Amino acid sequence: MEKKQIGFELTIFESINELSQSEQELLQAAEQAQKNAYAPYSNFQVGAAVLLENGEIVIGSNQENASYPSGLCAERVAVFQAGARYPGVAIKILAVTAGSKDHVVNSPAAPCGNCRQSIMEYEQNQKTPIVILLKAEKGPVFKCSSMADILPLAFNSSFLGDS
Ligand code: THU
Repeated sequence: MEKKQIGFELTIFESINELSQSEQELLQAAEQAQKNAYAPYSNFQVGAAVLLENGEIVIGSNQENASYPSGLCAERVAVFQAGARYPGVAIKILAVTAGSKDHVVNSPAAPCGNCRQSIMEYEQNQKTPIVILLKAEKGPVFKCSSMADILPLAFNSSFLGDS
């Protein structure tokens, strides 16, 4: 028998000012996008902004639906839009911001499991890590070095065989 410990390094910034200029700008783009969230059911508004290798920034926000599972998270709106507009262009950073109309959110909201799975495939295809920046209305900024870090033991197409 063998037991393995799997962990990752999370960098925590007390203030957005500790980040680089481009990281700050990307978080600001996510905050702008958050304003266009369509979240009448949860009142939880999420913004996402991805910085691509070609310098473009593509944004997204959560889009809900009366049939709840039909809605989509901000992260996938942004990343799918990036894939549609700039196919094959690598994603360098994904910034995510979140807030609620009902209460103060003071800890960063991390991508849900479905988003991690979807975005992981982009990371594997591009063969370079996607850095993830997370920020709420208040509190610290979290930085993860890659999607693989927060989705260990991920399922991918290799399990489907013949590729
Ligand atoms: N949501 C996101 O957009 N991203 C996340 O990382 C977590 C959750 C959205 C989905 C739904 O519209 C609302 O937040 C509440 O779950």
